[in-house]
Amino acid sequence: MTNIAILGFGTVGSGVYEVLTRNGANFCPDINIKHILDLRTFPDHPLADRVTADFDKILNDKKVSVVVETMGGTGAAYKFSLAALQAGKHVVTSNKACVDKYGEELERVAAENGVCYLYEASVGGGIPVIAPLKECFAGDKILRIAGILNGTTNYILTHMQTEGKALQDMVKVAQELGYAEADPHADLAGLDSARKISILAGIAHGRYISYESIPYVEGIEEVTLQDIRLAAEMGCVIRLIAKAVLVGEKLSISVAPHVVAATSMLNSVCEAFNAISVTGDCVGEVMFYGAGAGSLPTAAAVVGDIARVVTGSAKPAMPRKACEEGFIIAENDEEKFITLKNGKKYRYFE
Ligand code: HSE
Repeated sequence: MTNIAILGFGTVGSGVYEVLTRNGANFCPDINIKHILDLRTFPDHPLADRVTADFDKILNDKKVSVVVETMGGTGAAYKFSLAALQAGKHVVTSNKACVDKYGEELERVAAENGVCYLYEASVGGGIPVIAPLKECFAGDKILRIAGILNGTTNYILTHMQTEGKALQDMVKVAQELGYAEADPHADLAGLDSARKISILAGIAHGRYISYESIPYVEGIEEVTLQDIRLAAEMGCVIRLIAKAVLVGEKLSISVAPHVVAATSMLNSVCEAFNAISVTGDCVGEVMFYGAGAGSLPTAAAVVGDIARVVTGSAKPAMPRKACEEGFIIAENDEEKFITLKNGKKYRYFE
């Protein structure tokens, strides 16, 4: 039997229960959610008796070999993840803020203890992109990663275009649907996308890159219904695009709303879907597309990581280096721009 503990029983944590109940037997017939850490109680839930507010109960339970951190934030989530790894437990998470801020330390501590710190669900929701980037692109130099990495803003921009809805009205709906962050400012201001592109770029370029080192991050707050309409007149859409582009030996990283050309595959990415284009010097362009947010898609990615540790197919991470000063550059001279009929200038994605 494999005993696991889930830390945080919100949108993603409860989704992990759902997915394991539905499909857990596919990879491990004896998987058991032994503890659920949450300050709330869930009296009507079938696992109500497993809910505890005491993390030490989980830490000291030698039978728990996998800890699933779906709490969010970088306070208790970091502290508990570190303690679990030091105690020789694998940690699986969807928490990009924690991966971005403490990933270097947590991966190192995991490797020192012969366990894994896995975070497939931290980028792209249900889309498997981190494991492929770590494992399948080894034969490539990654020239560009570009994508729509935030489901909330994509959902909002889609509905502003199709229904003429106001941005703030759509934020509320995205929250109700479980797409938005606890503080949706992180979605709207591009910070969530920044964390995700920094995680992907770091893996692709063998370094730890913090989102705080990204020189240009702009969200969708200034995108108006008129901008969207004028872009649509040209067959284009406006989308929040995160990019990491290799320029010589340096990396240009940015997050910004772009006018996306009708010919681009990203043009048809609507609702809360994400799409990530990875271009290698040998393989060319590879596209990942799928549900970028929401309880079950994100939980499915978490459960995929649980399966990888339970079946032994995941190995502790290869060491990466710190990001040297000057490696991340502010602007890419090849960046293309377009001016809308109302005079507003946008970045242009073809
Ligand atoms: N708030 C995030 C999004 C959740 O909308 O994409 C998934 O990371």
